[in-house]
Amino acid sequence: MDKLVIQGQSPLHGELEISGAKNAALPILIASLLTEDTLSLTHVPHLQDVNTAKSLLKYMGVDIQVENDKTELTAKEITNKNAPYERVKTMRASILVLGPLLARFGEARVSLPGGCAIGSRPVDIHIKGLQAMGAKIDIHNGYIEASTKHLLKSKLQGCKFYMDIVTVTGTENLMMAASLAEGVTILENAAKEPEVVDLGQCLNKMGAKIKGLGTDVITIEGVDSLHKANHDVIFDRIEAGTYLAAVAMTGGDVILKNVQHKYLDAITLKLIETGVKIESHENSIRIKSDGKLKAVSLRTAPYPAFPTDMQAQMMALNTIAEGVSEVTETIFENRFMHVQELIRMGAQIDIRGNTAIIRGKEYLEGASVMATDLRASASLVIASLAARGQTTIERIYHLDRGYEKLEDKFNQLGANIKRIH
Ligand code: EPU
Repeated sequence: MDKLVIQGQSPLHGELEISGAKNAALPILIASLLTEDTLSLTHVPHLQDVNTAKSLLKYMGVDIQVENDKTELTAKEITNKNAPYERVKTMRASILVLGPLLARFGEARVSLPGGCAIGSRPVDIHIKGLQAMGAKIDIHNGYIEASTKHLLKSKLQGCKFYMDIVTVTGTENLMMAASLAEGVTILENAAKEPEVVDLGQCLNKMGAKIKGLGTDVITIEGVDSLHKANHDVIFDRIEAGTYLAAVAMTGGDVILKNVQHKYLDAITLKLIETGVKIESHENSIRIKSDGKLKAVSLRTAPYPAFPTDMQAQMMALNTIAEGVSEVTETIFENRFMHVQELIRMGAQIDIRGNTAIIRGKEYLEGASVMATDLRASASLVIASLAARGQTTIERIYHLDRGYEKLEDKFNQLGANIKRIH
């Protein structure tokens, strides 16, 4: 298994291109199932999770061509309306095939994803939403078996559905399903994340009629079919946030390109509180830091509040900031696995329920640590970049799921990261 060896305390300088968003690319790739025409995408990031999604789609019969920065997907004939456990367990976003398959073909069999490292993560809202649209759903042997064959023209029926919890992939699954349903669907308490909006905009280019994107009431007027479209995947705000937090910690001066700063507000406003300077331009953002930071408390919540996917990275930052901070995680029940590893590097952190109390220290020290999930791994990388001495991070396959060319990008800014095979 690969590991990263990181020499700490090099300030970061230069320019960096931020990649397309993993969490937008995944649902958008899967949206190709909704039409027999070709969906043509740019800025699909090169990531393990993207490979997993492509391989699931290929298994179902989708033709995928990749040339330079363009990915073309054609779901003309779908031979397999089945997402097996082996594929869903490696990537929970595979559950997103459920809505499109059911809406276009009237049947789907998708493995229940099960829990994962950061929490139990049920999919009950995805299922209840499809049932509210008339689908017959049975759970057998760990599989969701869904059908619309008993409905008029075998089509899902538009309805009003209130989501008990704001769910990103739940909103995406139901939005895709409703695009091909009979009549109007209204999703209340919908997710407002920029990645949900990006999927909605792509669906609208494919001929869907979706209104209210970016608000918590999304209205979808079903259409008979969708058609070909071109779409450029939105930038990855979590990748951008991770680099911003790293520069804040190591000190330096970096420009991130291919970003829209309005989607980064929750992150940049917190970073400004720590004392760094941030300049926002139309398609870029510049951060300058002298590495002397003030601790900031935060609480994760659905967009536009502070993203759970940046919680671990900001916790790493607080470990070397002046003062005491509280970081509260409200989305996932087990998303503090980086804490024990940061403590191995000398951090002072106590956990009380879903709040971590961090007492800032002058510096962290290099150590051998273990990555446990994607964002926990990212927090260990940026902690190592700022730490004194050398850190070895094991189990870095988590990072390859969600950060494109992580060590190349950091090294381009002056970091010293080596991958050992
Ligand atoms: N939930 C339910 N029932 C459901 C769906 C969700 O109880 O049917 C709960 C979850 O257990 C969780 C909360 O609702 O406590 C929110 O989960 P959500 O459904 O929004 O998460 P997700 O859609 O599975 C996406 C991202 C995650 C990100 C979360 C929250 C993708 C592919 N994944 O997950 O990204 O943390 O939204 O913003 O979009 C990551 O990139 O590292 C990552 C984990």
